[in-house]
Amino acid sequence: MTHPTAEHYDRIAATYDDLWTYDPDYVRQFAQSMLDALRLIPSDRVADVGCGTGLYTRRLAQELRPERPILCVDPSPAMLEQLPSSPYLQPVPGRAEDLARGEIAPPDGRPFDAVLLKECIHHVPDRAAVLAGLTRRLSSHGRVLVVMLPKAIHHPLFQAAHDRFEALQPDPTEVADALAEAGLRASVSYRTFHVTVDRARYVHLLESRYMSVLDEFTESELAEGIAQFRRAYRDDPVIRFDDHFAFVTGWVRPG
Ligand SMILES: C[S@@+](CC[C@H](N)C(=O)[O-])C[C@H]1O[C@@H](n2cnc3c(N)ncnc32)[C@H](O)[C@@H]1O
Repeated sequence: MTHPTAEHYDRIAATYDDLWTYDPDYVRQFAQSMLDALRLIPSDRVADVGCGTGLYTRRLAQELRPERPILCVDPSPAMLEQLPSSPYLQPVPGRAEDLARGEIAPPDGRPFDAVLLKECIHHVPDRAAVLAGLTRRLSSHGRVLVVMLPKAIHHPLFQAAHDRFEALQPDPTEVADALAEAGLRASVSYRTFHVTVDRARYVHLLESRYMSVLDEFTESELAEGIAQFRRAYRDDPVIRFDDHFAFVTGWVRPG
């Protein structure tokens, strides 16, 4: 049986980049923030786990110009197919769990210097075990960055979607605790990205179930939610909201 998460991403893969690039500056600023948080240098051995279409990885790679390709790991073949052909990006079908077990590693057999997981940790059921496994794959100056939404978000979703999101989304402090438990120097900080999107486009985003939480609703529940959204924003042709993200980092302790 196909997993519902896999079905979700296989379905939206072809339009994923269109869905998320409602604001051209958003991806550029986001990629720069991740580059800075990981303090990447071109010689690092890097994996982007749950890279999806590589929307952010390709931007990050353009800035970094890595000496060896970033391993772009994702279980959805349809998402990975969207990855552009680039000497900086190496598609690798697989899961965070495979990397944690050491089944996905840099081609030269050395450990990773940096592992990025952007908006995929909520899809990993056994987070503590996976983060402990990833920690064991890091070099002496290795680091992990988990980028995730907090439990409460400002996206203009309808109320039932907010409630469901809050119930499903892990807490960033839980992730930081798991990284600390694994032996890393862990911390959580928050970044805010301003989003501007036309109301009509946002309706299209909702209809496309652009967030996986929207897959929790039947067609008629979604239609009711969209009707609620239309009523709430009937006077706003353009929607503006702040997208807050937790940046959870874990650094290998010196010595
Ligand atoms: C919201 S998308 C994020 C994609 C990309 N990181 C981005 O920010 O554009 C979540 C991705 O996590 C992937 N995913 C789901 N389960 C996973 C797992 N166990 N390990 C790694 N990635 C997973 C999905 O296939 C999907 O591409």
